[in-house]
Amino acid sequence: MVDITDNPPVITIDGPSGSGKGTVARQVAEQLGFRLLDSGSLYRAVALASLNTRTSSEDAFAVAQIALTAPIDFVAHPETGDACVLLGGQDVTLDLRREEVGEQASKIATHVGVRDALLARQRRWCQPPGLVADGRDMGTVVFPDAELKIFLTASAEIRAKRRHKQLIEKGMSANIGSLLADIQKRDDRDYNRPVAPLKAAEDAVCVDSSQLDINQVVTKVLDLADNRL
Ligand code: C5P
Repeated sequence: MVDITDNPPVITIDGPSGSGKGTVARQVAEQLGFRLLDSGSLYRAVALASLNTRTSSEDAFAVAQIALTAPIDFVAHPETGDACVLLGGQDVTLDLRREEVGEQASKIATHVGVRDALLARQRRWCQPPGLVADGRDMGTVVFPDAELKIFLTASAEIRAKRRHKQLIEKGMSANIGSLLADIQKRDDRDYNRPVAPLKAAEDAVCVDSSQLDINQVVTKVLDLADNRL
């Protein structure tokens, strides 16, 4: 029998911005009672720290230093229990969702020094009883031995519509045309960067969520997990 305390099971969910991977990962982790790593938030927190200190996204060395040392913590909100991200002890969960922060995150994520600095931080999340990790390179680089790897996609138009709805629901202003342009620009950077480009691992199951709702995707992932874990 496998000793899961030595080798906790990992499910990776990778895909482009707005594919729904964050929501799917959260629900799958909840259902299985697993830990959740939202690696995009880690990149966004480094991006916010670099914006706060007016560090250029092109200064690879300075941004890598921020990635190594930034005081980033993931905690549960004391009242709601929701996942919160702290930067230097301050709750920055909402700030991280700003388009400007996402844009900076995708720029700083192209530096190998930044990715290396975040690698160990991400691997430390893998603890019993198991982990669901979502991002761009969870299945290819961070957890290459994961038991189940999902690559979740959706058309850029559908993703822009979903992002628009999310922002409006949060009371933030949004323009669908510029969201689509941002998504396409970010896709281009994520898919084509030389270091850890966004791509499906060879052993990943590809799921196109364009015509599926979140519940259908969650059910599909849980069914696959049932067979593999
Ligand atoms: O997923 P999210 O949109 O929050 O990620 C923000 C940016 O961080 C992405 O556009 C991507 O460039 C970068 N990222 C990454 N690798 C990850 C997670 C996020 O390069 N594992």
